[in-house]
Amino acid sequence: MIKLDDLYFKPFISAEKIDAAVQKMADDIAADLGDEVPVFVGILNGSFMLVSDFVKKYPKPCEVTFIKLASYEGIKSSDDIQRLIGLTQDLTGRTVVILEDIIDSGKTLAEVHRIFKNENAKSLLIATLFFKPEAYKKDFKLHYVGIEIPDKFIVGYGLDYNNLGRDLPEIYQLKTTQHMTNLVLFGPPGAGKGTQANFLKEKYNLVHISTGDVFRFNIKNKTALGMLAKSFMDKGELVPDQVTIDMLEAEVEKNADAKGFIFDGFPRTNAQAEALDNLMKCKDSQINAMVALEVDDEVLVQRLLERGKTSGRADDADENIIRNRIKEYYNKTAILKNFYTAQDKYFGVDGVGSIEDITKRLNKVIDKL
Ligand code: IMP
Ligand code: MG
Repeated sequence: MIKLDDLYFKPFISAEKIDAAVQKMADDIAADLGDEVPVFVGILNGSFMLVSDFVKKYPKPCEVTFIKLASYEGIKSSDDIQRLIGLTQDLTGRTVVILEDIIDSGKTLAEVHRIFKNENAKSLLIATLFFKPEAYKKDFKLHYVGIEIPDKFIVGYGLDYNNLGRDLPEIYQLKTTQHMTNLVLFGPPGAGKGTQANFLKEKYNLVHISTGDVFRFNIKNKTALGMLAKSFMDKGELVPDQVTIDMLEAEVEKNADAKGFIFDGFPRTNAQAEALDNLMKCKDSQINAMVALEVDDEVLVQRLLERGKTSGRADDADENIIRNRIKEYYNKTAILKNFYTAQDKYFGVDGVGSIEDITKRLNKVIDKL
């Protein structure tokens, strides 16, 4: 991650990818223009790096010139485009190829068309390294597009934020998500996870994502992912991690302005924990802690037997079944305890006592994150 002025940016497109895109543009244009000697017109300032790399890759003779336009202030495209340096060369009968670093709203491009209207060029082709289709508001044809990108502010490879970042050889994207607190909540059956999750949700404004609920929701509503998951379940196979992760991602997307998430029932394996880390990274965030409620086995057995008397849940009535479920829990979660301990993110919290006391202990851990 890098900081330019007051904003943070994360790596987005590597120098190698840019190089390949520039190469492809040069090859495509050369193939289309045949033996014609084109005039490449770079739009300053942003396009200086592209033009330099591009003409080195262009396999045939060409001419190069620049015009200088300015429209951006900070991270917003402004309406007022200033012509700072205009055309200095006669283009009558020439094939002109505009080389743009990026096309966003298309306002700059409209100005370019205005400038070239009276130049009597034989043809005017538009080539841009980056293009934001969601931001584009004009109808001008773009003849060559290097890489399409989402409508998010980027810097590097000639592009700037407040004049900074033009020198970077790769592209960085503005980090927009706010800081989140993301917890993985664990606890053996009967530890009071559900109760505590509700308190945490309220106090920290978190969204509780229970994998079980997410699965049931997707299957019940026959979403594409739900049907996919079901197809594995119907065959008696485990649902692949990626399907589960995709469902969780959809939940995370649905709550784009959440202050954070409580993951409940996921991850269960190292591979899933890694996948969850990746998902969080894509959201410019991370898992901050695995919080595990720790309760002695005998206490759990007593609690569950007690609950069994009123809940009617068959698996809460039989002591052997209960003991097995608890054992299973420890077998399965030991790996995850190791995974998060290695990252200094494991926090065991004493889960015996009054509900309020346990909540207080959890708060103490989370407040320090
Ligand atoms: P448009 O006129 O809205 O199409 O924007 C084109 C100009 O805005 C480009 O030549 C850049 O100078 C600037 N611009 C657009 N998007 C970005 C961005 O994500 N980062 C940096 N500059 C940008
Ligand atoms: Mg530009």
